[in-house]
Amino acid sequence: MRQLKLSKAFTLIESGPVVLVTTNDGRQDNIMTISWTMVIDFTPVFAITTGEWNHSFAALRKTGECVIAIPTVDMLDKVVGIGTCSGADTDKFAKFKLTPVRGRFVTSPLIKECLANIECKVLDIIKRHNIVVLEGVAACVDAARKEKRTLHAVGDGTFIVDGRKMDRRKMMASKLPYGA
Ligand SMILES: Cc1cc2nc3c(=O)[nH]c(=O)nc-3n(C[C@H](O)[C@H](O)[C@H](O)COP(=O)(O)O)c2cc1C
Repeated sequence: MRQLKLSKAFTLIESGPVVLVTTNDGRQDNIMTISWTMVIDFTPVFAITTGEWNHSFAALRKTGECVIAIPTVDMLDKVVGIGTCSGADTDKFAKFKLTPVRGRFVTSPLIKECLANIECKVLDIIKRHNIVVLEGVAACVDAARKEKRTLHAVGDGTFIVDGRKMDRRKMMASKLPYGA
């Protein structure tokens, strides 16, 4: 094995899928792209890494809520476009032709064109590491959607698309929550 630059180590375990996180600051809906995500427990609690450098962060902090929307491979250019411009000067729903849909528990919009949406409340912001801890309060999936393959960011501008699904449910039964 040859040495890998330590600064590139994260690309080996970069998790996925890439998600879109929506917010509403009381004036405007906004969207950002987030690839640094983590599932913390089954209840469900999630974490995303973000901070003040994004326009969305002020709304996230002020309102204490957001939506995690799951895009699919056919949305790659929108996902990258959303993550390379700012809601400070752009209406991203209009620019990327996405449809905001009102959720049940948060004012941040769901994205109609996405495969799934999770309404979330902010549980904690760990400033030192720019970690935002989120609790999912409602989730919905577009079961009729044909394209279900999600995107996984390597971290160097390339993406991996979901591939073959393998079933080890029996083997993992003791570790899976009821009904999984
Ligand atoms: C593929 C991709 C992944 C990204 N992942 C993250 C991330 O995990 N955390 C983060 O803070 N920004 C991430 N970004 C950058 C934000 O999406 C970007 O700064 C965006 O313009 C913020 O929008 P806003 O200023 O409207 O909030 C990512 C961008 C792209 C294209």
